[in-house]
Amino acid sequence: MNLKTSTPRRNPKLSTPTSLGADATRDISGALNALLADFFALYLKTKNFHWHVSGPHFRDYHLLLDEQADQLYATTDPIAERVRKLGGTTVRSIGHIGRLQRVSDNDAEYVTPLDMLAELREDNARLADRMRETHGVCDEHGDVATSSLLEVWIDEAERRAWFLFEASRPGETPGR
Ligand SMILES: [Fe+2]
Repeated sequence: MNLKTSTPRRNPKLSTPTSLGADATRDISGALNALLADFFALYLKTKNFHWHVSGPHFRDYHLLLDEQADQLYATTDPIAERVRKLGGTTVRSIGHIGRLQRVSDNDAEYVTPLDMLAELREDNARLADRMRETHGVCDEHGDVATSSLLEVWIDEAERRAWFLFEASRPGETPGR
């Protein structure tokens, strides 16, 4: 991970007191802000595919992706507030998200429904991997609260990947 670009700027007026120490603030905030950018990027990609999906399974895919987008969006505020509780600052704009995100955008004019599901499944699996890495950073600093949140969010990412996998099985009716 590129800590240089994801470490928040320090401003004494925004430094919430924390007993975890300055190293924890720097390392965990940096990792969480990169994750936050990934959640926003994946939220918008999931909405993009929700809006542009087509074909015979339209209703199932359209609804599945909306459900997943809602879950991704619901995670953004707790991540940002966790950064503030740790004394860091968090993302301020779409431009800031663009500089931190590791999830790649898909601006293609047309994507087949099965390619949409496969791409999102891969993105969610990578997101789970990055959250596991961040869990390791939290463990180093004894930040059990962030670790505990991450455990729930990893499970949710794995659930999204599971649904996307099952829904894209050839010859199967999409499961919901
Ligand atoms: Fe919608």
